[in-house]
Amino acid sequence: MLKNRTEIINTPEHIGKEVTLFGWVDTIRDHGKVGFIDLRDKTGIVQVVFYGENYAKLKELGNEYVVKIKGSVKERNKGQNNENIPTGSVEVDPTDVEVLNTAAELPIPINTDGLDIKEETRLEYRYLDLRRPRMAANMRNRSKAAQYIRTYLHKEGFCEIETPMLTKSTPEGARDFLVPSRLHQGSFYALPQSPQQYKQLLMVAGFEKYFQFAKCFRDEDARADRAYGEFTQLDLEMSFVEQNDILDLTETMFTKMVEDLFPEKKIQQKPWPRIPYKEAIKKYGTDKPDLRKDKNDPNEMAFAWVIDFPLFAEQSEEDFFHGSGSAKFAPSHHMFTSPHPDDIKLLDTDPTKARGLQHDMVLNGFEVGGGSIRIHSAEVQSKIFDLIGFSKEQKEQFTHMLKAFTYGVPPHGGIAPGLDRFLMVLFGEPSLRELMAFPSSTKGRTAVMDAPNDVTDAQLKELGIKTV
Ligand code: AMO
Repeated sequence: MLKNRTEIINTPEHIGKEVTLFGWVDTIRDHGKVGFIDLRDKTGIVQVVFYGENYAKLKELGNEYVVKIKGSVKERNKGQNNENIPTGSVEVDPTDVEVLNTAAELPIPINTDGLDIKEETRLEYRYLDLRRPRMAANMRNRSKAAQYIRTYLHKEGFCEIETPMLTKSTPEGARDFLVPSRLHQGSFYALPQSPQQYKQLLMVAGFEKYFQFAKCFRDEDARADRAYGEFTQLDLEMSFVEQNDILDLTETMFTKMVEDLFPEKKIQQKPWPRIPYKEAIKKYGTDKPDLRKDKNDPNEMAFAWVIDFPLFAEQSEEDFFHGSGSAKFAPSHHMFTSPHPDDIKLLDTDPTKARGLQHDMVLNGFEVGGGSIRIHSAEVQSKIFDLIGFSKEQKEQFTHMLKAFTYGVPPHGGIAPGLDRFLMVLFGEPSLRELMAFPSSTKGRTAVMDAPNDVTDAQLKELGIKTV
């Protein structure tokens, strides 16, 4: 920060002194002869008052102009305090006003919650949309939550590791985003749907406790709680653990995070209830029950675990792998989830009866996270591939996993809460895009930059690609 700059939030500490403030003109109130602006920086707003010979300076200002204002901080007159803002007991009497940049009239209002504005317009001007206090608060809260988790997991002995974005198709059940290769024309990378295989390979590598904030890419239709294109998971994996260890760690971390950072939120039940899948379906008719007592209370947070899912769902070929598998059985979670040890025998007799060691983290009726204990035997993994109906070629796509599993793989498991979706529910936002800085639109166009777009013929030629 500039050495002599005062952040707006700190102005009340400088009563009777001169400060130098930088920021945007948030609002202008001109009463003739006397007028006020609210000056805004990232820390808040403060009132600047223009009267006497200063009044003329007000006329040089416009909404959202970027200014440097020197002035003295004064206590406001009795009865004129603004209790709604932290600087409401003071105002600034300017001695010098410098316009650093003017601003055109904004295409969207930014002093409302913005939810009534068309999504395309908000995303076209996302850099302005993010100026609105609600969105700015969402971004800062997201940053705080991520930082809390990072610190927590480091203290617990986790190692943060980045895994590749240019990789091979991963079987999380959605369509892949493909990236053509220049060096290997006709071949494609896939953007990861999740770091699932890499995190399991990191367990083979001996890290024992891994996490990352992982960008995941899935080409599936957007919904309020589902991003088109990319989203972020808090991806974690641990070795030498049982399912309860994963649930305990995740539960303690999220409970503490919510209670420490957002004390206005009330966690309805502690410890979180752990509900077997069958019971959830029978009692609530869904595997993501909303256990809130008062659904109108925006601060009530009803967490739950759902466990003992069936390992497989019986389904059609089309449903799984978009027809590329001859699937009689499709994994409920994914193909690396371990069968319940008591149910291994059922794989040979009645696979649909076998339970998996899967766990879903549920909050207020949303599935905010999912994970499992993994298969760590090449033999069981191979059997699951057979049940899914993988052909020899499809199996070969996973040779690296089966091979890695022959070199001393520890028992392991993990979970991946979706960061965007979790924060959407925590803050009661209508869509997870309210928690993402630059989300794609529901129609699949990126914010501000409006991709996808055409590329040059030269680029296509280099890649050996012809479009039809
Ligand atoms: P899964 O596919 O269940 O598991 O995803 C885990 C969590 O990620 C979030 N999520 C999404 N968030 C926004 N937009 C989407 N399109 C989207 N898809 C998923 C959800 C979900 O609960 N590799 C496994 C995890 C594991 O087994 O450890 C996985 O990706 O909050």
